Amino acid sequence: MNDLVITNGMVVSPYGTLRTDVAIKDGKISAMGDRSQLGEAKRTIDAAGKYLLPGVIDAHMHIEAPFQGCIGANDFYTQSVAAAFGGVTSFMDFTNTFKGTSLVEAVRQRKEEMSKSAIDYGIHVKIVEAPESILDEIGKVAELGCPSLKLFMTYKKEGVMADDETMVKVFQKAKEHNALTMIHAENNAIAETNIEQFSRQGKLGWTDFPLSKPVLCEAEAVSRAVHLSKYVGNAVLIVHTTNGEALENASRAQREGHPVYVETCPQYLMLSDELYNDPELGYLAICSPPLRTAEEAEKLWDGIRNGSITVTGSDDCAYSKEEKSMFLQKDADDAVIPDFTKVVNGVAGIETRLPILLSEGVSKGRISINKVCEITSTNVAKLFGCFPQKGIIAPGSDADIVLVDMDKEVTISPEVLHNNLDYSLYEGLVVKGYPVMTIAKGKVIVEDGMFRGSRGDGQFLHRSIDPAITAAYNK
Ligand code: URP
Ligand code: ZN
Ligand code: ZN
Ligand code: ZN
Repeated sequence: MNDLVITNGMVVSPYGTLRTDVAIKDGKISAMGDRSQLGEAKRTIDAAGKYLLPGVIDAHMHIEAPFQGCIGANDFYTQSVAAAFGGVTSFMDFTNTFKGTSLVEAVRQRKEEMSKSAIDYGIHVKIVEAPESILDEIGKVAELGCPSLKLFMTYKKEGVMADDETMVKVFQKAKEHNALTMIHAENNAIAETNIEQFSRQGKLGWTDFPLSKPVLCEAEAVSRAVHLSKYVGNAVLIVHTTNGEALENASRAQREGHPVYVETCPQYLMLSDELYNDPELGYLAICSPPLRTAEEAEKLWDGIRNGSITVTGSDDCAYSKEEKSMFLQKDADDAVIPDFTKVVNGVAGIETRLPILLSEGVSKGRISINKVCEITSTNVAKLFGCFPQKGIIAPGSDADIVLVDMDKEVTISPEVLHNNLDYSLYEGLVVKGYPVMTIAKGKVIVEDGMFRGSRGDGQFLHRSIDPAITAAYNK
């Protein structure tokens, strides 16, 4: 007896769209084909007119993560609830690594923190320094199921920047242990020199923020990370890419056959630096790298279409208005004195990633729904080493499925979203195409606008990356 059969839906993969029925048993997809061949089921869901996508995987978020004096509005349980409403059935976060932290210990601690999640979770290992003792732990954390390492090329003030020497040493170990290195690419010298000089010149308004970290600040760092990885012969993923020049610096290496992968995020596809013009609310849009122009966003859509952008992530950092403004001073009239250096970096977006890609991508004719599947799920699972357990609707895979109604229109507002924020940068945006049901390992966790999952239901994703993903052709 099956637990669940989903009939009449259209099953989406990167390779095509199939009108087929799906049977689920013991948390896995047990069979696909015509309903008459699938046997009895305890429950049947009629998905006529709906698309079935493999559950969205979010491999980029920052929850319960102390950063720039803030911690964020969500914990891993509330984040998993918000995620589920956005069709997300697995997510990954980073260890809280500081100088002197053992990587193995950081993984152990993160596992404990993430265990309250209602959906499956994976862990990336943040590395901020590379003494022998830390380098020796890279093989160990890969064996523990965490073969993805995160390096920040900036945030020296915050104590998390990896310098070039650290990058080379970590890249070598990553290559040895078949790990993927994830790079936050911004040139720290440009960013921090600008902070110093802009401060002296009194140029600290919201509109000055993107000028302090211009396109070149990002593009230079992408180029450097890519060249170091070409030298070592390891695989890199450039996260949260915002502009055409940075993308070109990565895709040039892709054309040469190097394992260089690129992530972008909905905020860079959808929002623009015009948000910084709002004197009242501009601070809410401060994130790194900064939001760019609408023209740059179109270059990112091109990158999604031509395959140079491999995956999307949310980079979700849900900071409340209180947290975003907690270090700002006020003048005698109680008005906030703008100072972008005092605003924690990050914007929320785990729940809105799929709707935005469906609406701005599919409904507006920029990309196919198959492409959405690829960049929200299949490629993410492949890149991070959990395919085909995740990332595809196929017999034997986890029954992680999101039902999508391409005709459903929703006006985004804090009220329709489920994180702990009372604002959304997308407020007022009408999206066409929305997830209407989320199934995680065979259990319906979102249905009729209600959350039916359970705290602690998520399991740790023990990942191992296919060597084909990390292999450099000439090394
Ligand atoms: O502004 C951002 N993106 N904050 C989160 C940390 C990071 O750089 O990803
Ligand atoms: Zn980053
Ligand atoms: Zn080159
Ligand atoms: Zn991030």
